[in-house]
Amino acid sequence: MNTVKTVRELRAVVARVRSEGKRIGFVPTMGNLHEGHIALVEKASQRADFVIASIFVNPLQFGPNEDLATYPRTLVADQEKLVAAGCQLLFAPDVEEMYPNGMGGLTNVSVPGVSEGLCGGSRPGHFDGVATVVTKLFNMVQPDLAIFGEKDFQQLAVIRALVRDLNMPVQIIGEPTARAEDGLALSSRNGYLNDEQRAAAPALYRTLNQLADAVRQGERDFAQLVTTGKASLEAAGLRPDYLEVRDSSTLRQAGADTQQLVILAAAFLGKTRLIDNLAFDL
Ligand code: PAJ
Repeated sequence: MNTVKTVRELRAVVARVRSEGKRIGFVPTMGNLHEGHIALVEKASQRADFVIASIFVNPLQFGPNEDLATYPRTLVADQEKLVAAGCQLLFAPDVEEMYPNGMGGLTNVSVPGVSEGLCGGSRPGHFDGVATVVTKLFNMVQPDLAIFGEKDFQQLAVIRALVRDLNMPVQIIGEPTARAEDGLALSSRNGYLNDEQRAAAPALYRTLNQLADAVRQGERDFAQLVTTGKASLEAAGLRPDYLEVRDSSTLRQAGADTQQLVILAAAFLGKTRLIDNLAFDL
């Protein structure tokens, strides 16, 4: 596997691979790869002839008081994992390569509707940063398909809307959330947790399951359900940011007769913000 740091080198490989008639599969990441990321790369190698991953900690999608400076950067270990998963090219640009004219005054890609509320409410500008960098990456890599994790459910919805609205010729494929044995969704941010916080963290997924069970058993008072769910997060030592029941196909508020549901949550353990979701059909 080659690692390239410039758009110029990336484009040279992409041109060669495309001229050979190969289908390109793409997995964008911010690095510090775990089994969840690797599952995306493996899915890409099943579906495409040539797999490109990117590692870029995108400043544009971090808020001023977020963890951009401390976000874990583990390039050498990541490269080894990518090779083992069947990745053929890694694009790992630095900030100057991605934003040569700086980030002020940059063309902005904004996806209304699905970006609003949930993580978009708690992290203003976050999804503009994601949509803008993913648009740039798609234009650089020119993939036939790209794989994203359902762990970031709202992000996946934003990307699907982006590709649909701007007619990008990229097939978007969602991959189920990879979890630790105790249910905690794998995340690069889990590394911030101390032992006590790590022991408390599975309460997030446990609470989502409790709420989903209640809905499956007929509960339709979602406001009451959310109140109960937030109380059980607090009892486990988590500070809820949001907890909501939505329609999984539109991300709009769920009503009593919504059939496709997703329960989404974000919660803090100390300074670490964890997110998770559980989608299910009635
Ligand atoms: P990052 O958080 O590194 O995630 C890269 C991809 O891995 C995303 O599609 C994410 O949903 C997926 N992923 C993360 N944890 C997962 C898990 N436990 N199971 C399955 N998939 C998982 O998401 C980003 O980076 C960035 O916003 C990016 C799209 C790269 C744009 O900068």
